[in-house]
Amino acid sequence: MKIAIVGAGYVGLVSGACFADFGFEVTCVDANPDKIAALEAGKVPIYEPGLAELLDRSVRRGLIRFTSDLAGAVAGAEVIFIAVGTPSRRGDGYADLTYVYSAAEEIGRAIGASSEGHRTVVVKSTVPVGTGDEVERILSRTLSRERFGVASNPEFLREGAAIEDFKRPDRVVVGTEDERTRQTMARVYRPLSLNQAPVFYTDRRSAELTKYAANAFLATKITFINEMADLCEATGANVQDVARGIGLDRRIGPKFLNAGPGYGGSCFPKDTVALIKTAQDHGTPTRIVETVASVNEQRKRAMARKVVRAMGGEVRERTVAILGLTFKPNTDDMRDAPSIAIVRGLQDAGARIVAFDPEGEANARDVMENVRFARDPYECARGADAAVIVTEWDVLRALDLDRLKAALARPVLVDLRNVYEPEVMRERGFAYTPIGRVDPFA
Ligand code: UDX
Repeated sequence: MKIAIVGAGYVGLVSGACFADFGFEVTCVDANPDKIAALEAGKVPIYEPGLAELLDRSVRRGLIRFTSDLAGAVAGAEVIFIAVGTPSRRGDGYADLTYVYSAAEEIGRAIGASSEGHRTVVVKSTVPVGTGDEVERILSRTLSRERFGVASNPEFLREGAAIEDFKRPDRVVVGTEDERTRQTMARVYRPLSLNQAPVFYTDRRSAELTKYAANAFLATKITFINEMADLCEATGANVQDVARGIGLDRRIGPKFLNAGPGYGGSCFPKDTVALIKTAQDHGTPTRIVETVASVNEQRKRAMARKVVRAMGGEVRERTVAILGLTFKPNTDDMRDAPSIAIVRGLQDAGARIVAFDPEGEANARDVMENVRFARDPYECARGADAAVIVTEWDVLRALDLDRLKAALARPVLVDLRNVYEPEVMRERGFAYTPIGRVDPFA
């Protein structure tokens, strides 16, 4: 089977690499010629563990190629995925569907101009409910209804674990409106069903909404435990024990109950807001999700105040070492990272910032001002009045604590990811502030 993937971003590249690895013939299309040139030269424009190796393997086997020629790629493909970005529209927070619709128009023209048979157009981008219907309308301007089907196939992969998530997903969700499209999608996902991954078929609108509902639910889980963390701090309880205590109930489950500085990233912040907008438009507001989004926004800034308190209430002319900037480990992604609000909050309070991140520095430079960047955690801490762990990178999980302490001007460590244990840190001579835990002996 020949597959074309329109949009060589995160989702497009990971899906393309994995489909090619399963033996399909994949063409990745992107409008950006620089990106295509880089990919052809073997350079992967995003940081994702294992992706470069996987792409390289498929390139050598002749199963994947990259092009800016959408019409050419689509003409020969039986299945065409739309995996372009759907960013938050500036100003109102609705999902911006410009790229999805212009891709649909180009695909329609390309298929119209080619003579071969039936095509399946699959919307993989995260899109509001009803977008598949509009894609179908756009395609039917240039194609007769018998020549194509439109499926919704939302992507649930996590950055940093994307390949594993693609190949061994909890489930694949496919929304279709006709049997032929459904059968084509069954062939596409046959390699995964061999891995015992449940492929769940539903109608298109339910599939579209499932993606938003899943992300909003996970964002709610995180926000819930973050509020419990604040309550734990106020009452002397331990949020990690509370999370374990509730997570052992199989109805709740243990995952996504790690308290932290608030969720960030390319999905949760924008998808929750887009869901809120859709729900308001339909006169059925999702009040819980509205609250989750606003609590999470406020939390990021509140983390800056937490650092100020840990430093004795005054940070003017003091230096804060920020350890970890990306919204989570194993990515270089800075989109909506909590570190951005934390750094800005500390700067507003008068602090100087020096920061370290293993992969995110280049992207961080684009979104942060007046920050000095260090090459490693110890250089970052040198002479600083406090260090703050914002992202739980592996290199920050086993720090040489004596070296860190010696580097700092004051042994203040704020640990927004609960990487360390209060008792150990006290013994090592740190003034240590975790999340949702108090040291009963401090
Ligand atoms: C998420 C979804 O998990 C994925 O299914 C969807 O397709 C895209 O969005 P991703 O954004 O890559 O994936 O990261 P994820 O691991 O879900 O983390 C999102 C944010 O939540 C991060 O900022 C992370 O630090 C935070 N988080 C996650 C917590 O604070 N606590 C947790 O327990 C889990």
